[in-house]
Amino acid sequence: MTTDANTPDGAAAAKPAAKDPWDLPDVSGLVVGVLGGTGDQGRGLAYRLAKAGQQVIIGSRSAERAQAAAEELGLGVRGLDNAECARASDIVIVAVPWDGHAKTLQALREELAGKLVIDCVNPLGFDKKGAYALKPEEGSAAEQAAALLPDSRVTAAFHHLSAVLLQDPAVERIDTDVMVLGESRADTDIVQALAARIPGMRGIFAGRLRNAHQVESLVANLISVNRRYKAHAGLRVTDV
Ligand SMILES: NC(=O)c1ccc[n+]([C@@H]2O[C@H](COP(=O)([O-])OP(=O)(O)OC[C@H]3O[C@@H](n4cnc5c(N)ncnc54)[C@H](OP(=O)(O)O)[C@@H]3O)[C@@H](O)[C@H]2O)c1
Repeated sequence: MTTDANTPDGAAAAKPAAKDPWDLPDVSGLVVGVLGGTGDQGRGLAYRLAKAGQQVIIGSRSAERAQAAAEELGLGVRGLDNAECARASDIVIVAVPWDGHAKTLQALREELAGKLVIDCVNPLGFDKKGAYALKPEEGSAAEQAAALLPDSRVTAAFHHLSAVLLQDPAVERIDTDVMVLGESRADTDIVQALAARIPGMRGIFAGRLRNAHQVESLVANLISVNRRYKAHAGLRVTDV
């Protein structure tokens, strides 16, 4: 008979059953705000999530611009300035350009306290050779967000989506996986569940925030793909 030296009575320790990674929470009642929601990416995400039945608030530096964008989308979408948007939302997607990222989040630290933040910002540069990845001091845009928002639950996702497809009402399904990164499984599960609300999409856990740089940078490769093949490329992770 073999005994387990790690337990006091020599009995083998029973391992808890592994949690099913596809057993995701119901997020349909959560309010989603989008900072920079007047832009292509934010507006596209707002449209898709509202179409899926989510309550959505578009945020902007100007309440008037947010309201105009919300009215254009319909689907019960509301528009508020970024601070009010953050305050009124359970989940806040950050969809501002990299240039305005740090300044926007610094100003909203209080409003974003306790909120689940999803950063989808890709720090990229462009020159005559095309797009290339920048190297943020903190490692990535997501890690910069986490450093600036110590009281928030920062995750990263939605980097690889085409804003053109998101905004096109003729496109019914967007067949792509969404890489989701974060420090807490409860939070990344929520983000995966949110991605799965959009027909064709799956949210896939892809690691902790220290690995966000590669995910953000990969967009430079996708832009090269799109230019060569005149496409709106997405990603699929196989065998999961
Ligand atoms: N476009 C895509 O296909 C795509 C895909 C994946 C991820 N992303 C990421 O999503 C983010 C937004 O992309 P986008 O193409 O939607 O950008 P965008 O249209 O240039 O900007 C989005 C919105 O951000 C606000 N904004 C502009 N400059 C700002 C600043 N300095 N500080 C604060 N807010 C500012 C503007 O809204 P107000 O003037 O109304 O405040 C603007 O409508 C980027 O970080 C990008 O890397 C984009």
